[in-house]
Amino acid sequence: MAGRSGKVTVVGAGFYGSTTAQRLAEYDVFDTVVLTDIVEGKPEGLALDLNQSRPVEGFETQVVGRTTTADGGGYEATAGSDIVVITAGLPRKPGMSRMDLIETNAKIVRSVAENVATHSPDAVVIVVSNPLDEMTALTQLATGFPRQRVIGQAGMLDTARFTYFVAEALGVPVGSVRTLTLGSHGDTMVPVPSRCTVDGKPLADVMPAEQVEELVTRTRNGGAEVVALLKTGSAYYAPSAAAARMARAVHDDAGAVMPVCAWVDGEYGISGVYLGVEAEIGRTGVRRVVETDLTADELAGLKEAAEAVRTKQADVKDL
Ligand SMILES: NC(=O)c1ccc[n+]([C@@H]2O[C@H](COP(=O)([O-])OP(=O)(O)OC[C@H]3O[C@@H](n4cnc5c(N)ncnc54)[C@H](O)[C@@H]3O)[C@@H](O)[C@H]2O)c1
Repeated sequence: MAGRSGKVTVVGAGFYGSTTAQRLAEYDVFDTVVLTDIVEGKPEGLALDLNQSRPVEGFETQVVGRTTTADGGGYEATAGSDIVVITAGLPRKPGMSRMDLIETNAKIVRSVAENVATHSPDAVVIVVSNPLDEMTALTQLATGFPRQRVIGQAGMLDTARFTYFVAEALGVPVGSVRTLTLGSHGDTMVPVPSRCTVDGKPLADVMPAEQVEELVTRTRNGGAEVVALLKTGSAYYAPSAAAARMARAVHDDAGAVMPVCAWVDGEYGISGVYLGVEAEIGRTGVRRVVETDLTADELAGLKEAAEAVRTKQADVKDL
């Protein structure tokens, strides 16, 4: 296949990381996918297994697995990555909020980010570890990378969940539904009903307001609903689909507009915070934040979300 190029590393070979590596490898557009973890042998074993799927699935991307240590051992296998996806960290257990993970995951993400900066100084970094907005801000601090090269994944997932719930409720194909969520990944997620359509018609015309509200609430709790069913671990099929699509947009220099956690600097009258917004994604990371028309209520919700995450992001430097 023409055009296979580049190296992408997925840090953390748990459920999120291994499914992301699988999706990235199966795209067959990268030369190499590197998968790492601190659990001895786990990334090597998964990489071997993924490589053995290549004749069946018909992809040539090489998958490399490497065990790493906290002091940076093994990171040489990741050197010169164009893209790094950070999935390292604990997932939630039933009843836990994403914020309950902050202290443990901050230690993990900080050390991962420092090693990434040393070995892949030009990479675009996509963060998924929770709590998402804070871990994205921390990764930017710990790498010292330009802000447009550090992006968080949340909005693609929240939007996908909302889209699925609307399609399921109306009994229509997911492809006919467009939804949008902005804000933070959590309680201050901001659904944008004015931008939601079904077959091009405004959502408000095809679904009663109370039902839209129910689906918004279900979307906001979308992660917890899966956690409660699984009992151990959290969702990974939809999350990995979202992160892999972002990585692909970087690889392809696609200029695709996606809801992501990006540094906001003046857009919507908000400055100095990582927040869920739409952004154009290409080889350099975020090319620009795309402002969309919002109703007064939606804009107020976005500003509220920005203030809620701003304080917590300011604290991450001490973690
Ligand atoms: N942003 C989102 O939308 C979203 C969605 C789902 C899950 N998540 C988050 O993604 C993270 C991973 O979830 P998961 O389901 O894969 O969990 P998991 O427990 O299956 O995997 C996490 C992996 O990280 C590894 N790890 C820990 N410290 C490491 C380090 N220093 N270097 C490399 N690897 C390390 C662990 O050994 C483990 O294999 C969690 O924080 C979870 O909350 C985010």
